Formats: sequence, structure tokens, C-alpha cells
Amino acid sequence: MTNAEERQAVQSTGGHTGRPHADRAGLPAWSYFSAELLEAEKDALFRRHWQVICHASDIPAPGDFITCDIVGDRALILRDGQGAIRAFHNLCRHRGSRVLGDERGNCRNSIICPFHGWVYNLDGTLRQAAQPGSLPDLDPVEWGLKPLESEVWNGFVFVRFQPGPQPPVAALMARWEAELSQYRLDRLLPDGKGVWSDEVRVNWKCIRDVDNEGYHVPMAHPGLDDLFGRNYFDEPFREGTARSYSRFRPGDGRLWSVRNYKKILPEVDGLDADHRRAWLYLGVFPNFVFGIYPDSVIFYQEFPVEVGRTIQRGACYRRPDEDRRLRAARYLSGRIDRITSREDEMLTQWTWEAAFSSAYDGVILSDLETGVKSYHDALRGVFPVLTGPEPAPGTLLARNAALCDAAAAK
Ligand code: FES
Ligand SMILES: [Fe+2]
Repeated sequence: MTNAEERQAVQSTGGHTGRPHADRAGLPAWSYFSAELLEAEKDALFRRHWQVICHASDIPAPGDFITCDIVGDRALILRDGQGAIRAFHNLCRHRGSRVLGDERGNCRNSIICPFHGWVYNLDGTLRQAAQPGSLPDLDPVEWGLKPLESEVWNGFVFVRFQPGPQPPVAALMARWEAELSQYRLDRLLPDGKGVWSDEVRVNWKCIRDVDNEGYHVPMAHPGLDDLFGRNYFDEPFREGTARSYSRFRPGDGRLWSVRNYKKILPEVDGLDADHRRAWLYLGVFPNFVFGIYPDSVIFYQEFPVEVGRTIQRGACYRRPDEDRRLRAARYLSGRIDRITSREDEMLTQWTWEAAFSSAYDGVILSDLETGVKSYHDALRGVFPVLTGPEPAPGTLLARNAALCDAAAAK
């Protein structure tokens, strides 16, 4: 069934798509608290898939940098003296210290390790070790900072810590390029508040599960319901990305933020009729989302720390042509988003707790939770072990590899 046909089947008939119960069961409870699975996820998902770190406009001047820790790896993104964006492991070649300790800043024309003072050029090459007479001759390239695979797509800077199955970011996102071109994402500017991050005490997949469907919007998000009503529609994950689109519902809006947002939001230059009064979300496997609004663009993502500890991180960007009215609209869309996030926090917590209940025996997904189902399918593609009971301690990786081999041989 194509996306359009699926949407038609769900929305116009009100009937389900005929999937059996087994196909609606979600992930097993053990997948939310298995430490062995979490370590496997860190490697197969987080180190080997593209991660968005920032926008090029966050680091406009030579020496500007941003750092970001993800599942034990440390990324350093900086603007070099020629204006190019470079990405390195934030790992001194001497004894592994961070070479830049702050989350953002400007390091002028060199990077000086705070431990013993080795100095690196902005292209990552080693300029000089401290007291070089105490060391053998060190080749500046061989002993330079280790480069990190990176790509700039529509202004957004992505890194990947280890080689992985995804194509280049431009190819991964290619099917959205025509729709996105009208937003001129490459010209976005930071909102001035920087990148935010928070720690939450849940398994990371609980956040994704709540975020991947709009079925809960009419009940759990009065603000979003006021803004879109039932116009919210999730398309399933396909080849690593998913789209959700929601056109504003007609009328003024009952809630203060929504009423004023609808009133103030101008017709933004360059946006077509389908996008002037709509919010668009693009989900990227395994862990982040772009929220693309007429007035602003956000991203948010999760990284696991431990089974029940997760870092959430994100940022908001404004249009370069922002006037006072558009700025007010951006303030209001941010307010609606903040309220929505607070509402989701509780749902995420309760979903996480459910996996520990002695009565929990899985879920049943509605056709309007196709975003969750297709996301779980993508996870099961990497971890076919998720289709069965928890493997005996110490056997998860071998069991999963055997299942992957069996699937490949079919
Ligand atoms: S660890 Fe960086 S200079 Fe020693
Ligand atoms: Fe939600």
C-alpha cells in the first residue's frame, strides 16, 4: 500500500488496514531494560548512523566550535581559517584529554589541549607538542586530531562516528528535498539561545515511541489539537526517514498561544499554500526529528546514557528575514512546543514504568500509530533478536548476528 492509499484507508473509511494483532504488538518489555541491548544499540545505531550536531550558522567565524558527546564518543565541530567546517574526535593524541572542554566557543587560530598544552592547528594537524624535546619527532598529520566523517546538508552539520549502513545525508534526505527547498534551510540563523540539553530518567526508546505517533494528540496535547485537530498525519518510516504533516485547522483557536499564533503568523515569503499554515516533521532513524514551521525550524534528538538515563538535545533556528511579527510567531510556536514537551514527559515516564509492571504483556498499536510500528520494524531490521524472548545473558550479540545471517541467506 502506498502512503497515500494507507492514509486514505485509515482516514476515509475509519476502518483498520487489516493487519493482524501480532503485527501490532510493539517491542518486548525486555528491550527497554536490557543493558546488553543498550550497548549493542549504542554501537549499531548511535555510532553508525548520522547524527545532526548543529547548523553552520552556529559557528560563523574561524575558530568557532561546538562539541557534543554521544554514547561515549566526543564530537568537535569547528570553522577553520579558510571558512570550511571540520569535524574531529575531541580526543587529544597525547593522552586522550578533551582538547576543547566547553560546549561552544571560539579557540582563535589554534586548539590548545588543557592537560599538557599540545597545540593543534584548525585543520587538526599537530602544531607542536609541549616541550617537544621530551618526545620523538611527531608527524603533524599522523599525530593530528582524528577526523570524524561529516557532512553539511542544507546548512545542518552531521557526523558519523563509525562507518554505517546509511547513504550520504543528501541521499538519505533526497525524497524530501523538493518540499524542503522552499524553506531555504541553509540560510537559517540560531535563535540566540543555543543548543539545549536535558537528562531524562527513561529508556531512550520510550521517548521515540511517544514522539512517533500523532494518535495521542487529540487527547494529550490540547494545544496541538487546537492548532491542527485531526489534520495531523504520520507517514511510516521508509528507508530511514518519516514525515508527519499537519495543516492548521480552520477557525481562531481556543487557547491563548494558538489563537495568537494563528492571528500573528504572516504569509511567509517563498512558502506555498500547503506550507504557509502547516507544521512539518521529518524523523530520521534512529533518534532525531526536524520540526519545520513557517516561522522557525527546530531539531531534537535523544542519546542513551544508561538503560534508564537519556540525554535529550535540540536547538531552534530563525529565518534570516525575520521581522517583529515573525519573531512573535516564533515565540508562540516555541511556547506551544514547550507545553507539548511537558505533556509528553509524563507519557514517556509512564510508558517506561509500564515495562516493569508484572502485568505488562506488550501493546496493541492502532493504524494511527503506523509511525511507531514502522519505526519498530526498522529497529527489528537491525536487531532481529527483538522478535523473540530475551536471549540468555552474554548471548545477545551472537544470537542477533545469527538471525541477521539467516535473514540475509533467505
Ligand atoms: S592529553 Fe592533551 S596534551 Fe596531554
Ligand atoms: Fe506527544
